[in-house]
Amino acid sequence: MNSPSTGSRIVIGTRRTQLGPLIKSGGAGSVYLLPDDPNSVAKIYHARVDPPSYADRIEAMLQLRPQLPDQIEGDKRYVQIAWPDATVRDDRGRFTGFTMPVLDVNATSELEQVLQERQARAAGLPVGLGRKVTLAANLASVLAALHTQHHYVVDLKPVNLRFDRATLYIALLDCDGFSIQGRGRRFHAPQYTPDYLAPEYQTRSLDETGEEAQDRFALAVVIFQLLNFGIHPYSGRPAHDGVPTDVASRIRGRCYAYGRSGNSSMLPNPVSAHAMMPVRLRDLFDRAFGDAPATRPSAGEWGNALSLYARPSRGLIVVCDRNREHQHYVGHSCASCAREELLTRAARNAKSRPKPQPPADWIAASRTGRQAYPPKPAQMPPSFGTPPAASPQASLPTHMPRLASFVPVLMLLMVLALPGAIAVIAANIGGADVNYSPGGNCSWFTPDGRYGPTQASPQPCRQCPCTRGEMEEFVQSRAQTDMHVLPAIRVSADEAVLDQRPADEDGIGG
Ligand SMILES: Nc1ncnc2c1ncn2[C@@H]1O[C@H](COP(=O)(O)OP(=O)(O)OP(=O)(O)O)[C@@H](O)[C@H]1O
Ligand SMILES: [Mg+2]
Ligand SMILES: [Zn+2]
Repeated sequence: MNSPSTGSRIVIGTRRTQLGPLIKSGGAGSVYLLPDDPNSVAKIYHARVDPPSYADRIEAMLQLRPQLPDQIEGDKRYVQIAWPDATVRDDRGRFTGFTMPVLDVNATSELEQVLQERQARAAGLPVGLGRKVTLAANLASVLAALHTQHHYVVDLKPVNLRFDRATLYIALLDCDGFSIQGRGRRFHAPQYTPDYLAPEYQTRSLDETGEEAQDRFALAVVIFQLLNFGIHPYSGRPAHDGVPTDVASRIRGRCYAYGRSGNSSMLPNPVSAHAMMPVRLRDLFDRAFGDAPATRPSAGEWGNALSLYARPSRGLIVVCDRNREHQHYVGHSCASCAREELLTRAARNAKSRPKPQPPADWIAASRTGRQAYPPKPAQMPPSFGTPPAASPQASLPTHMPRLASFVPVLMLLMVLALPGAIAVIAANIGGADVNYSPGGNCSWFTPDGRYGPTQASPQPCRQCPCTRGEMEEFVQSRAQTDMHVLPAIRVSADEAVLDQRPADEDGIGG
């Protein structure tokens, strides 16, 4: 049996019509315009995915809608969630898909695209802290509304989230893949992504009692990335060779380097902004990435906290007095200044020094074929439901085992390419970005994000970009900016915060 396509006659509820032009095809279905309804589209399941198997799920979605109505502003309609509005049947009455509000895909961008500053800049997307906080607040608010109805995204990650560039509204698409609460029955999400999977589900299957905890974890990861130059909370610099190299294993091993009390296995990425975040946000992250899933902040709690920072009237985020493009939390120094200084200094030092050699044990590893780090685990975390389709960050892609056999070759190539890579970093200061680790394995960046010699590393290592004097001067300059009184910011997308709960309820600010 073929699925209906452009020109096919269909029935929407009781209305007879036909499918318009194809917008796009995905793994499960194709999305079509509707000639008689400019505000809706129809998603028609591919015949190969067995459309009738989706009928009960869509029916459950129609019965329990999250309270996220389209936002109408002037003649513009902003879709917050592409939730089903009606079932679609073919001309013989068979279930074949559903209609949902049409999203202006051209006016929206993937959240993934704002994470890396250079990429965001090139695409004309927000780079300022105020807008990123607004995006985070909006995401949390939308998720809170979904959770109120006990629906969960599960595969929550930046490539699955879109936002309207003008308003910063978040738009949730592909909702039929969420975990859906039906009447007396749950329809599970078919996939998840290991880099966004909570530690407790890295070793055992995700069941329905844990889906909200999973969403809370993934939400905190996305917020951390938004507020911290795209840095994943489980990336950083391993303190010893026993630290796994892949993010999923680091989540399982609780290698969160950005907590207020630090981590003995992982040191923070040197350009991280975590030390310049307000305690209130740091505490929320610590609860999200701590050992007790039950204390993970809810989406609503994140929404309340973040919307305070997103509102310019609160003055909790201010413009940097050294660079008008930067914004930072009031009473804290500017993380963008610190990051730029560090990258500039690293680039300058890299230029003026002889080409660094890879550390001795790396060379030994490449000659003997021994791996400097423990090999990746052969087994990926246990899955539930069907395996996902491959995507940039898809969970459990089926081609992974074959890739594993190239790991030793890739590591050798990486060792040989290291000096070149450092030169490229030096030439592209802006692009050096979040993965750059000037200190290699040295501990000049202390776990709580301050700078200076530690017991483990009383001297900067030979890879370290800064001399002790330079580092001290840098620390001094940062201490001084802390004291400046800064002018107030204007974040024009203030109204994009969807959750309009009274701002005073938690007593922050005036
Ligand atoms: N409400 C909408 N309005 C406009 N375009 C949409 C809408 N929903 C989906 N699309 C477009 O159609 C594409 C496929 O939709 P969707 O992701 O729902 O399909 P899918 O088959 O479930 O895909 P996947 O395999 O990624 O899960 C989307 O990437 C998007 O470009
Ligand atoms: Mg889908
Ligand atoms: Zn600054």
